[in-house]
Amino acid sequence: MRIMVTGAHGQVGWELSKRGKRKGFDILGLDRATLDITDQSVVKRRVEKSEAVLVVNGAAYTAVDQAESEPELAFAANRDGPANLASACAEAGIPLIHLSTDFVFDGEKKGPYLESDQVSPLNVYGKSKAAGETAVRERLAEHIILRTSWVYSERGGNFVKSMIRLGRERDVIRVVADQYGCPTYAADLADTILIIAVQIQDNREIAWGTYHYCGKGVASWHGLALETLSLAKQYTSLKVKTIEAIGTADYPTPAKRPLNSVLDCSLMEKTFDIHQKPWQQSLARMIKRMFSV
Ligand SMILES: NC(=O)c1ccc[n+]([C@@H]2O[C@H](COP(=O)([O-])OP(=O)(O)OC[C@H]3O[C@@H](n4cnc5c(N)ncnc54)[C@H](OP(=O)(O)O)[C@@H]3O)[C@@H](O)[C@H]2O)c1
Repeated sequence: MRIMVTGAHGQVGWELSKRGKRKGFDILGLDRATLDITDQSVVKRRVEKSEAVLVVNGAAYTAVDQAESEPELAFAANRDGPANLASACAEAGIPLIHLSTDFVFDGEKKGPYLESDQVSPLNVYGKSKAAGETAVRERLAEHIILRTSWVYSERGGNFVKSMIRLGRERDVIRVVADQYGCPTYAADLADTILIIAVQIQDNREIAWGTYHYCGKGVASWHGLALETLSLAKQYTSLKVKTIEAIGTADYPTPAKRPLNSVLDCSLMEKTFDIHQKPWQQSLARMIKRMFSV
């Protein structure tokens, strides 16, 4: 089964390509240099010629704070790119799995967010991703929009790797403790996508639409930092003595972030029989892998 993967050098794209190949999928992985998803005619041609059974869009502009000063770039990659892919997929008769984010929500809800909850993004990145979701829905019936959150992996820049780096460099680290979400290992997300891919290939009745998938359990950034450093110290020597809990107000950033971005994933479980993995277990796997290479 051939799967075309865009953004193949990103955290999710990379894991998907690697794990997909290992599991016997024919992965056509395209990085930004090979396929810029904002180039409409090239996207059309690439999808047409791909001979893929499924396209997965792992490409996105993900620099949340930088997006505040580069809205055109964020919207080009996160709205126009998915629009191009969805149009090309519609013409070629190929379904699309498109990744989206918890940051489409404003964080005001008490309790986990459902797929049916109103989106109300607080920042440019979230607005551009919400626009991307709409663009996909408008152009292609056979789509899965997969919202995820707090993604980390051995590859690329992410919170977990930053904490390990800071833990080696500093005595004190201050981390926000009043934003809550669900840390997600890119490898688990890749496996989820591959399970859906198999169901698409098997011609099962697919309930196209929007789904949530993230790690199981809730953390604050501070809680995630504590767990990360407690796991990492088994493999490396750390300088850090204090991991101080601070409030969002003590750590101003260009982009406002939701205080609650916990995603309810029960629809995914019910529809595709895909179960969330406890975030602490996945984090332990990632950190072990990180130090074993
Ligand atoms: N990271 C998170 O915490 C998080 C949370 C929730 C949802 N998500 C969503 O999950 C998906 C995957 O995220 P990720 O963490 O894997 O992101 P990532 O590591 O930043 O990877 C994104 C990839 O897309 C590429 N890209 C950017 N613009 C492109 C364009 N115009 N054409 C083609 N490729 C382009 C980037 O290339 P360059 O490196 O060259 O820019 C990068 O390789 C995204 O849709 C993201 O919005 C991520």
